[in-house]
Amino acid sequence: RTVAVVLAGGSGQRIGLSTPKQLLKIAGKPILEHTLALFEEAPDVDEIVLMMNPGFVKDAEEIVRKAGFTKVSRVLPGGTSRNATTQLALDVLTDYDPTTKVLFHDAVRPLLSQRIIADCVKALDDYSAVDVAIPSSDTIIEVDDNDIITDVPRRSRLRRGQTPQGFRLGTIKDAYAKAWEDPAFEATDDCTVVLRYLPGTPIFVVPGDEHNMKVTQPVDIFIADKLFQLASSTTPEFGEEDYRQRLTGSTMVVFGGS
Ligand code: CTP
Repeated sequence: RTVAVVLAGGSGQRIGLSTPKQLLKIAGKPILEHTLALFEEAPDVDEIVLMMNPGFVKDAEEIVRKAGFTKVSRVLPGGTSRNATTQLALDVLTDYDPTTKVLFHDAVRPLLSQRIIADCVKALDDYSAVDVAIPSSDTIIEVDDNDIITDVPRRSRLRRGQTPQGFRLGTIKDAYAKAWEDPAFEATDDCTVVLRYLPGTPIFVVPGDEHNMKVTQPVDIFIADKLFQLASSTTPEFGEEDYRQRLTGSTMVVFGGS
């Protein structure tokens, strides 16, 4: 059995509106609705648990009802941090078999592909923890508290983490149980919890996708909206080949014209 947990407990402070960013509309629908639709459509996913910003649970229920999502079993209030929200989701999965596959996905990544969902579920046959990541085009630097560079890790070994992150239920529950015993526990994702608190557990990395962006800054709303337009006018999974066709096609003049 596979359960998808959609994490929508945040408030989107970096976007800075009174409405949480997961409720903003892109391509005519709330971001949250796009994201839920992906798991509703995924053949490998049996159930969806939605963790919502506590002040907007009713709005989320309304989205689920109107769209007629049949896999959404619960809409629950999230916690004060992303990790607290994950823990609250784990708390409602108490009666599930420890071998259950659980995918945690950021509600604000509405451009996730079915290919990635399928790859994650499949990888969980062989691994108890799975991440999704892409290479970095930017050089990533590490700095100290005074903004002085302390390290520039080799770019070829670096990846940018996305979601979903998938686990066997028993593994992620154990990792969190240990994490909360540590007063210094702090993380921004779920794989870090397994890496730190269940050392030795291999975490397999499934290739992500440039489109699987996290709507984080105001500009991301416009980028995501444009990506939806592109995707809806081409193949189901808009890929590099589609870009090449666009860049060389007669409908688009790339390098100016006479
Ligand atoms: N999230 C959550 N519970 C929280 C905080 C975040 O479920 N207490 C979710 C967000 O809703 C989002 C995902 O985790 O789907 C990724 O987090 P992020 O992009 O940081 O979202 P926000 O916390 O909403 O944004 P910000 O940091 O700008 O406030």
